[in-house]
Amino acid sequence: LSRDIFPKGFVFGSAASAYQVEGMANKDGRGSSIWDVFVKVPGNIKNNATGEVSIDQYNHYKEDVNLMQMMNFDAYRFSISWPRIFPNGTGEVNWKGVAYYNRLIDYMLEKGITPHANLYHYDLPLALQERYGGFLSKQIVKDYADYAEFCFKTFGDRIKNWWTFNEPKVIASLGFDNGINPPNRCSKEFGNCTEGNSATEPYIAAHHLILSHAEASKRYREKYKAEQKGRVGVFTDFVWYEPLTKSKADNYAAQRARDFHIGWFLHPFVYGEYPRTMQKIVGERLPKFSKSELEIVKNSFDVLGLNHYTSYYIYDAHQPKTNVIGYQHDWNVGYAYERNGVPIGRQAHSPWIYEVPSGIYKVVTYVKERYGNPEIILSENGMDDPGNVPFPEALFDTNRVNYYTTYLKELKRAMDDGANVTGYFAWSMLDNFEWLLGYTSRFGLIYVDYNDLKRYPKMSAYWFRQMLQRKKA
Ligand code: GCO
Repeated sequence: LSRDIFPKGFVFGSAASAYQVEGMANKDGRGSSIWDVFVKVPGNIKNNATGEVSIDQYNHYKEDVNLMQMMNFDAYRFSISWPRIFPNGTGEVNWKGVAYYNRLIDYMLEKGITPHANLYHYDLPLALQERYGGFLSKQIVKDYADYAEFCFKTFGDRIKNWWTFNEPKVIASLGFDNGINPPNRCSKEFGNCTEGNSATEPYIAAHHLILSHAEASKRYREKYKAEQKGRVGVFTDFVWYEPLTKSKADNYAAQRARDFHIGWFLHPFVYGEYPRTMQKIVGERLPKFSKSELEIVKNSFDVLGLNHYTSYYIYDAHQPKTNVIGYQHDWNVGYAYERNGVPIGRQAHSPWIYEVPSGIYKVVTYVKERYGNPEIILSENGMDDPGNVPFPEALFDTNRVNYYTTYLKELKRAMDDGANVTGYFAWSMLDNFEWLLGYTSRFGLIYVDYNDLKRYPKMSAYWFRQMLQRKKA
């Protein structure tokens, strides 16, 4: 496999996020985020790990950018920590934080790595959660857009690829529905978060995420785009949902799952309304867009990020079947992890997540066909080691090389069939804090020894170096 089978100008990058790699939490003026508080609650994170130091990219950024260059990547997808810029979410600026991102961006440009700046990767300033409930209040729209605008003004001379949010669906469903992520709000009115069929808070949070994205995009287009000539995208996540059987009920269940997953956001962005299945099932609980809001929500991204890892078999939860994993309320679907007794792929870092390479072909083709063939960047794809593979065995990650080979081939197949994909980012550039799994799940192309923070390229790092070699001009 070589970059030459991809179109000229196709961008290959690696990815990470502020809370997962920076460290220096509450140092150099960074204010607390909702994750800083969440990780301190015993039992929330595996081995009670935190991102306080993590892999300290804040102080190792030059070494890490050098490694990106060694791997021949064109770009790096990093996130800006809102509380590192505005410790209280609004008001006074932390200039040490601004200086850090200037150092990082300038060094990336010096080493020929294009910076893709993601404005939000789960780390909401704690002050805004406490002041008005964060994404549950409409106030977040203005505060988020003000923060975004500060970043456009400050870094927009060098950043031409802006991304508003990472995985709004994960933010809404994991933060406000089953409550496994901060702010760990559950649909209280229905007691235990994983029961009940009528959550309201995830739909309020999602609505404000959509409006926040749209407002930031509007301001960029109106005030900065002409001069800075950049563009604004959003990273959505999508898994592939395959009906377990050809029954009408299973096909409809799989479509409901797709609508409640990516349609929740792409329908408003592309068609200016929530998916019909969601309108029907969620009904009065679904917030409404005003006419003026629809004007800025529709067509509010220039490029669409798709984060993809896995696939599921889906069946209609009303007809419980064997090998049940569990079901999502409101979606009223069930997950199966094998069909006719055959598992659908290797078990990854969660009990029911499996890799099926054809999934990337199917999600890209689905988005192409259902949402008007937008320009797509495959903004996250990768795998973690099965369990905690010890050093130095972890460096010989043949399964990760196989994963990337098969997924990139399937992505190219979708492009050959007409999908307008212009870039691909591997998750992750290096081992880092994997949220609830702490440091027990390693996604990196570069291994990190968490005792001394030394970086060791894995075999997959050298595979990318070879695969991404540029022909002499
Ligand atoms: C996510 C985030 C990443 C994860 C990655 C591996 O999807 O939650 O984008 O922060 O670390 O997807 O799970």
